[in-house]
Amino acid sequence: MLVTKRLPSVAMARLEEACDVDLNDRETFLSHDELVARVKGKQGLIAMLPDTVDRAVLQAGLPDLKVVAAVAVGINNIDAKTAAELGVTVTNTPDVLTESTADMTWALILGIMRRVAEGDRLVRRGGWKAWAFDFMLGTELRGKQLGIVGFGRIGRAVAARAAAFGVRVAYFARTPHAPKVAISEQTQAEPMPLDRLLATSDIVSLHCPLTPDTRHLIDQTALARMKRSAYLVNASRGPVVDEAALAWALKNRLIAGAGLDVYENEPAVLPDLLALENVLLSPHLGSATSETRTAMADLAARNIVAVLTGQPPLTPVNPPAQRAGN
Ligand code: DGY
Repeated sequence: MLVTKRLPSVAMARLEEACDVDLNDRETFLSHDELVARVKGKQGLIAMLPDTVDRAVLQAGLPDLKVVAAVAVGINNIDAKTAAELGVTVTNTPDVLTESTADMTWALILGIMRRVAEGDRLVRRGGWKAWAFDFMLGTELRGKQLGIVGFGRIGRAVAARAAAFGVRVAYFARTPHAPKVAISEQTQAEPMPLDRLLATSDIVSLHCPLTPDTRHLIDQTALARMKRSAYLVNASRGPVVDEAALAWALKNRLIAGAGLDVYENEPAVLPDLLALENVLLSPHLGSATSETRTAMADLAARNIVAVLTGQPPLTPVNPPAQRAGN
């Protein structure tokens, strides 16, 4: 099997015990051409976010390739539909990263509303001259509404933390008549149509997968619907937000600020965003804790070993068509 980048030792050991492992052990990821060449003759592939596993890669792996294990919950870099057609199982790593991603979302919310990174930049450049009563005022969380777009595992985990800050929760989900959801003994999350959620929330936090329906869900029109005092937070996938429209909205103070962990063309960030103070930019750190990354790698390894030893995958995302010999 092929591993496109070294994983934590617990996962490498699990794989090496069960399979012959071809590891890309250099600093950089494989190019698409290298991936196509290296996947030939492999039964399993562990792929990470920068690996594009498209039809060309999947076909290059046939007839041997049985499983592609993503070390992520979002699998927009993997053509799972084609994989299913070709009889290749695709797995992802749900659950194990829910809490760390929810924590990071709150880091972005607090960071942008209390101007933490902006203050850090100011201190470092020697711009802090004195304590002052009205210096670098931020926005209080208590009493505000958090609007969560996409109410899956991560959206709910973000909601579960809201009560501690005195924040009420609204959510938008695909289910047309979504019910009120109890997020703690005292708190319920209220379902809302997207337009109303955008217009009434003080913080809008995105937790939906990237699909053709959610690409640029937050565009110029959506941003114009938000309150001028509101903040946008994105720890899902960059292309859910039209970055140029966001830069325009932030520059013209159509919204108060944004906290972004993901970008349309990672690792590139739109220069217009880099120039703004009212946006907090983190480099796709949602699941980046040692504990979570180890758990993600181990789950991916367990998925590979399960499929290659004839067991059902632990966390499949697609039901693959049966292939002769499968
Ligand atoms: C995921 O799991 O989708 C994360 O974005 C990876 O860090």
